[in-house]
Amino acid sequence: MKNKIEELNKKIAAAQLGGGKKRIDSQHGKGKLTARERIHFLMDEGSFEEIGMFVTHRSVEFGMEREKYLGDGVVTGYGTINGRMVYVFSQDFTVFGGSLSETHAEKICRIMDLAMQNGAPVIGLNDSGGARIQEGVVSLGGYADIFYRNTRASGVIPQLSAIMGPCAGGAVYSPAITDFIMMVENTSYMFVTGPNVVKTVTHEEVTSEELGGASAHSTKSGVTHFSCANEIACINTIKALLSYMPQNCEDDAPSVPYSPLSNGRGVGGEAEKRPELNNIIPKNPNQPYDMRDVISGVIDTESFLEVHKNFAENIVVGFARLAGKSIGIVANQPAFLAGVLDIDSSNKAARFVRFCDSFNIPLLVFEDVPGFLPGTDQEWNGIITSGAKLLYAFCEATVPRITVITRKAYGGAYDVMNSKHIGADMNYAWPSAEIAVMGAKGATEIIFKTEITASKNPTATLAEKEKDYIEHFANPYRAAERGYIDEVIQPEDTREKLIKAFNMLKNKVDNLPKKKHGNIPL
Ligand code: HXC
Repeated sequence: MKNKIEELNKKIAAAQLGGGKKRIDSQHGKGKLTARERIHFLMDEGSFEEIGMFVTHRSVEFGMEREKYLGDGVVTGYGTINGRMVYVFSQDFTVFGGSLSETHAEKICRIMDLAMQNGAPVIGLNDSGGARIQEGVVSLGGYADIFYRNTRASGVIPQLSAIMGPCAGGAVYSPAITDFIMMVENTSYMFVTGPNVVKTVTHEEVTSEELGGASAHSTKSGVTHFSCANEIACINTIKALLSYMPQNCEDDAPSVPYSPLSNGRGVGGEAEKRPELNNIIPKNPNQPYDMRDVISGVIDTESFLEVHKNFAENIVVGFARLAGKSIGIVANQPAFLAGVLDIDSSNKAARFVRFCDSFNIPLLVFEDVPGFLPGTDQEWNGIITSGAKLLYAFCEATVPRITVITRKAYGGAYDVMNSKHIGADMNYAWPSAEIAVMGAKGATEIIFKTEITASKNPTATLAEKEKDYIEHFANPYRAAERGYIDEVIQPEDTREKLIKAFNMLKNKVDNLPKKKHGNIPL
């Protein structure tokens, strides 16, 4: 027996060494952790249980039968993060560059199947040269098996993808189907075709980092939701993100203990009245302000986890806690492009709304939007379809939904931004709200065109009409008269109103009509 135990120990040690010390050193030399080190930092200490440690590839082409590594380039298993079950795969770049073979794919599929059967998130730590070139179509088949499972699992269990090295070719489509992608700055990249192919086809000279690094994908394409300074920051982002999510679509997100100051329990609690909110909206309605000040003024202290922070900055989305409970926030950002809705911001918000709705996370909308961005660029690239996407996402959402209009709610954007008409449960407005078809100047120029042109002093007439229009429409009271706004509230009371309203809505049941699935304008 002793011999047999020794043999097992030897095998375990060999598996843990992956592609060997030299390649591990090379991995470290690039500023990267190994697959096992990443798991070590990600999971609760001692909680990780590996599955398939001794799996090897079956390839016999190109002398591959002589080169085998236990585990075949991916570490898979399960364990806990902050006490909650998750399933993990971590690609090992030291074994054939983390490339995906038939058996490597089978290992990933196995933990995805277990995650689905047991209703827990899947986390993928990607670091791979793509399809195992020696295996050809078998490897491509393996990718397709994963894509299929990613899609089937979408909306059932949360799926997170960390890109910690190369992720190229068709391999990018597994992360792209998952709910959130995080990339590590300077050591990871994602692209469908690399710099060499780009040069051949389009004659563009571009580096891997420029083409598909964390910076490009967090600012230009929006492919990644988070750009992380290093691998530890990336791992911490995964943990933080998970803390806002339920285990699966039938669960509620975990809440954290909460005590308000006002009920006497005091210490460590939070004030419900937030007077600083009264001073955020500038006097001049065209002056920008940072919507993040409104968000942080309302939510539990320092609970905001912003998603897509540097992409489509005219809309802010992210998770937060209100009285200890998870919420998803969508907020126009007047400090960037006046908070206008355009293609990127609509796509960004629509995807976020759908994630929250899939996983029972209530939605809070802060609205200050002058409308949709005009121009040929927007029209020709499909602002109609993108705007419809956001509209559709809100209309379809059955989670508790609340809107607070802080200032402008103009035109179609009023309807789109979680208006009462499209199913929002409670709609509040601050006294500074302007709910109208468009801004006062544009509106008066159109409706009083003849009068202004005929006037001896068109400027004075325009100013007079504009003043008139502002008095009539640039306020929240017309909408409140109709019941489109449930209450006009003091900014300082916003937090308290929201806590009470979300509590009132906590048992909301709203079912969509029976259908196979909707046809969101993609
Ligand atoms: C087999 C691979 C491999 C691959 C790398 N290796 N990629 N083995 N299949 N796809 C091996 C190398 O032979 C090497 O082995 C080790 O991994 C490390 O690779 P290096 O090239 O030394 O590392 P580095 O310089 O860091 O470059 C990494 C790299 C490069 C940029 C990823 O290896 C590369 O370009 N690989 C090929 C990428 C590719 O074309 N993949 C197919 C994409 S198409 P040794 O023994 O020396 O350690 C695709 C289709 C998917 O993936 C379709 C799904 C639908």
